[in-house]
Amino acid sequence: MVALTGDSKIESSEAASIRVWHVSKQFDSADGGITPGALALNDVSLTVKAGEMVCIVGPSGCGKSTLLRMIAGLTPPTTGELSIGAEPITGPGAERGLVFQDPSLFPWLSVRGNIEAGLVARGVLRHMQQEADEFMRLVGLEAFANSFPHHLSGGMAQRVALARALINHPRVLLLDEPLGALDAFTRMRMQDEVLRLWRARGTTMLFVTHDIDEAIYMSDRIIIMTPRPGRIEQIISVELDRPRDRGSDEFLHLRGQILETMHFAGQPLAGNTH
Ligand SMILES: Nc1ncnc2c1ncn2[C@@H]1O[C@H](COP(=O)(O)OP(=O)(O)OP(=O)(O)O)[C@@H](O)[C@H]1O
Ligand SMILES: [Mg+2]
Repeated sequence: MVALTGDSKIESSEAASIRVWHVSKQFDSADGGITPGALALNDVSLTVKAGEMVCIVGPSGCGKSTLLRMIAGLTPPTTGELSIGAEPITGPGAERGLVFQDPSLFPWLSVRGNIEAGLVARGVLRHMQQEADEFMRLVGLEAFANSFPHHLSGGMAQRVALARALINHPRVLLLDEPLGALDAFTRMRMQDEVLRLWRARGTTMLFVTHDIDEAIYMSDRIIIMTPRPGRIEQIISVELDRPRDRGSDEFLHLRGQILETMHFAGQPLAGNTH
């Protein structure tokens, strides 16, 4: 069980908002610009409030990872602006953490070594060693501190990836289908774990998922995107109390509503009388 009470340092975090303003992304074509490349995102604007948990759902290829990579500062937008709080995004920064679907741990490092990797890179390991222990406890891996990645289950490896991102105290955590490779039971446990970490740290989280139930279970708001080129089709607030009951009428009703929106996303509204 993860302990979240007490006056631990890891509970204090200054979350930041995310602002995406009229952002489009056109990739270069493989022929060196003779023909236009893929338009991945088309005029996307959104705001995530500090400390909010927002999920993005949308069909494959609609630009979800591209959007996260732009917020992470790994790729620039073609047009538009992105900022964290009041700061424009011009490149990667330690205040933004990114967790991918594949935990991509360093195979030659132990669990402890992987979690401490960011501290070593920043030259602060000596001051923060105790914090590495706290994070290992937080994700329930203290007994595996000296194990290597090939001895871990998928869920354990993903928890190491989460701890590795969180130890840098990101003000914003970007999660790109972080639970996609897990079996259904592990996935549900990990959803609770991410929610516990979110509550404990108050970090702003933007979470990409293909799983509509996961989005409803986790988020304050759900952003539904159209097929490529990705635009925002609809943003839905999830007002259900936590912990959420996946079998409740409200949950199932919301699921039906989102499925229908996704089915028709990107299609012209001709004939629609609403
Ligand atoms: N580096 C790149 N160069 C050219 N095109 C790219 C590049 N990265 C992504 N694309 C294209 O941009 C579009 C959006 O890709 P992206 O990976 O963001 O989609 P996604 O919504 O994350 O899909 P999935 O759900 O399958 O992960 C796709 O058509 C993809 O082929
Ligand atoms: Mg993707």
